[in-house]
Amino acid sequence: MAGGQQQHTHGERQRPWMHPQGRRAYRAGPLEWAAAVVFTVLAIVVLVAAVAVLVVVLLLQPRAPYLAIRSARLDDLVYDQQGTLEAALSLGVVAENSNARSEAAFSAMELRVSFHRMVIAILRADPFDVPRKGSLPLGYVVRSSGIPLDGAGMASMKAALADGVVPFSIAGQASTRWKVGGLVPFKYWTRLRCDLRFFWPNGTAVDLSCSSKPKSKS
Ligand SMILES: *[C@@H]1O[C@H](CO)[C@@H](O)[C@H](O)[C@H]1NC(C)=O
Repeated sequence: MAGGQQQHTHGERQRPWMHPQGRRAYRAGPLEWAAAVVFTVLAIVVLVAAVAVLVVVLLLQPRAPYLAIRSARLDDLVYDQQGTLEAALSLGVVAENSNARSEAAFSAMELRVSFHRMVIAILRADPFDVPRKGSLPLGYVVRSSGIPLDGAGMASMKAALADGVVPFSIAGQASTRWKVGGLVPFKYWTRLRCDLRFFWPNGTAVDLSCSSKPKSKS
């Protein structure tokens, strides 16, 4: 090994890469070993830190603040033979923070409600904070009229009305900021994408289950 060969060079006083004071030349071997040990220890520390960060992220991500749709109703639906849609929906969105040690700040929230890829409304909120272990309900009443459906949209609406179940969808995101364990600042885009299906004509939501909570996706 390199270390063994170094033993024979104790007497050498000059090497190009040595410290100019040649009297320290005899320490070259031990110094190299020390450096190797230090770098090995550093590498292990970095590895352990990386694993620790990964574990923290995996364990605490379920604590990430999230959005959910708690209630939904199709209040009104008018569809004429020219393929123009008018719809009114009531949506109960809730921002949830399950962290006991940190409040959560939500910003840039934007949720798009669509029927057959046609966006009929966009829900937004000004930045807001949710207290520790708390939630904040945001109620929306959406009313859109004069929405022109394309051929596929018209076919889909015709089938939906025949079935008695009208499918909408909601998709979007919000930026959330909180402190993991009350200490480490963390920023995360929470993303929501759900189908919203309503019995029509009574407007009741079918199997409403909609949340951007990590791991809750089916
Ligand atoms: C709405 O209509 C559906 C299907 O006809 C029915 O299963 C559901 O119970 C109704 N909901 C209410 C609240 O009447």
